[in-house]
Amino acid sequence: MNKIQFVIIGVGRIGTKYSKIISENPNAELIAAVDVDFSKRKAIPNLVPFFTNIIDFLDSGIKADMVCVCTPNGLHAVHTITFLSAGFHVICEKPIALHLADGQKMLTAEVASGKRVFAVMQNRYSPVSIWLKKLIDAKKLGEIKFIQINCFWNRSQQYYTEAPWRATLELGGGPLFTQFSHFVDLMIWLTGQPKNIVAESFNLNNEIKTEFNDSGTIKFNLENGGIGTFNYTNAAFERNVESSLTIIATKGNIKVGGQYMEKLEYVNLEKSTQIPVFNKVTNANDYQFYQGSLDKHDEFLANVIHCLHNNLPPEVGIDDGMKIVSFIEEAMQAAEYKNY
Ligand SMILES: NC(=O)c1ccc[n+]([C@@H]2O[C@H](COP(=O)([O-])OP(=O)(O)OC[C@H]3O[C@@H](n4cnc5c(N)ncnc54)[C@H](O)[C@@H]3O)[C@@H](O)[C@H]2O)c1
Repeated sequence: MNKIQFVIIGVGRIGTKYSKIISENPNAELIAAVDVDFSKRKAIPNLVPFFTNIIDFLDSGIKADMVCVCTPNGLHAVHTITFLSAGFHVICEKPIALHLADGQKMLTAEVASGKRVFAVMQNRYSPVSIWLKKLIDAKKLGEIKFIQINCFWNRSQQYYTEAPWRATLELGGGPLFTQFSHFVDLMIWLTGQPKNIVAESFNLNNEIKTEFNDSGTIKFNLENGGIGTFNYTNAAFERNVESSLTIIATKGNIKVGGQYMEKLEYVNLEKSTQIPVFNKVTNANDYQFYQGSLDKHDEFLANVIHCLHNNLPPEVGIDDGMKIVSFIEEAMQAAEYKNY
């Protein structure tokens, strides 16, 4: 089997993770890396060519199959389009974009290029999420009447000082994009695209300096008319508390919790429905002084390689990414209107 050749753009926290998982996958090979900050060179093996800007990399003529876009959120659209146009497949870190209009441009560029964009939503690989998806698709829960999502996390000043883009609207976009888009994705994957969104945002910790509020609450209708609420904060004391999803449906109730929706906390279903036991612990990505989402990038990468070898479309593509952007953009606009 041919090794898939990768290039990493942006060698920060998550770019460094890609360097590690590419080196651990026998079907993958790192060909080059790009970061505007030369000090990031040390995170890349010595023999791998390193560039401090994208133009120099493209001018070098180095060929590869796939570029991993791991730059700040607000640069994902422009970087994805640049590399599609240059003839690469792209892994685009989350969120794919901060504005729906940019997602549309990415889609157009993807179609024109004949290449593929793989959007990263590694929380979908959690065994509990996979089971829940099958359960809902098989209508074992009946009609979903009410869902509640709670994402209560902590992000310190150190988190924003380490990478100031995270505190800006233009490059970071706020907590719904940077922290909670994984859970927006799970919600939409499981229950469809929300409508009739009303929202409020507020700031609970004024000592942390960002261009956006750290918390909010969103209310909406599910596709079938049911009700949903999404509550979030980055201002929990000292560490993440939970990310949970509770479903109230006509044939059962379920609560998935833990810090990353990786644990089945409550289940009551019709007697005929088998309930698996989830013994295996799924860890979070650990960044020393804070924790990110699920540590499943290795499985994601293996799936991307499988798709490329077998000419299969991405499991999560730009269209899925755009559903997330659409929900968040609408919720942010609704909150701004409410909070004038
Ligand atoms: N899937 C996940 O669970 C997950 C986890 C963490 C981060 N992310 C995403 O990954 C992205 C990066 O996050 P991070 O925490 O690693 O940030 P980071 O600040 O640690 O890394 C970003 C890197 O991009 C570099 N960079 C900025 N502009 C560049 C440009 N024009 N060309 C090349 N390099 C450039 C920076 O110098 C920095 O090294 C974000 O979009 C974030 O949302 C996803």
